[in-house]
Amino acid sequence: MKILEASDYADLSRKAADILLAQLRGKPDSLLVLPTGNTPLGLFRELVRAARSGAADFARVRFVTLDEYAGIAGNDRRRLLLWLRKELLDPIGVADDSVLAFDPLADATSEVERIEAGIAEYGGVDLAVVGLGPNGHLGFNEPGSPFDSRARQVPLTPESIRSNAAYWGSEADVPATAFTLGLGTLLASRKLVLIASGAAKRDILARTIDGGISPEVPATLLRRHPDSLAIADRAALGG
Ligand code: PGA
Repeated sequence: MKILEASDYADLSRKAADILLAQLRGKPDSLLVLPTGNTPLGLFRELVRAARSGAADFARVRFVTLDEYAGIAGNDRRRLLLWLRKELLDPIGVADDSVLAFDPLADATSEVERIEAGIAEYGGVDLAVVGLGPNGHLGFNEPGSPFDSRARQVPLTPESIRSNAAYWGSEADVPATAFTLGLGTLLASRKLVLIASGAAKRDILARTIDGGISPEVPATLLRRHPDSLAIADRAALGG
């Protein structure tokens, strides 16, 4: 795992955008996995700016959603796909048929098969960008998730329910279960990039970089990946 230090959040966002845009220059029809959460918002702003200025062309890109709450309506305000649509996909003009997204109300078994089959049909994930959960989760791969796990439905840990409450109002607003790509799905992506910002991520980032490689800290999966990169700002790195 390489580590790229950013001076601050704006720099982190630019560095992450540079990597994504270089990926698209090399392969305009890349299959990308992008996260929701607060960390990628600056990256998304950079990508929207690049699309508007003509510096990037997203016409042939395909997206797979990293995760999605389960058991909510397709148009529920908490739907992570709608968050991604609002912050990135709509502003850069991505059509529905370019996005492979978990249906929150679908039967879990057939839905995870559909998503994994869709990824295989596109030829695999070219670049996956993930945020870092306060407990080290990637997507909703909570501590203890096997490194070879594939897409599946999972219960959220109390810690993730607490951190997700910040997005929706209260813990009661956070669905108890979710779909997620698996750690094995992420390990199989050609390139894996983690973004982490702020002092609140300092401890878990240190464990990700220097602690034992273990499913107990799912983000340590990056150290098993042949082409992985953590982009973190100085606050997260403890500098
Ligand atoms: P954040 O979430 O980007 O809002 O910090 C990261 C995560 O929990 O995966």
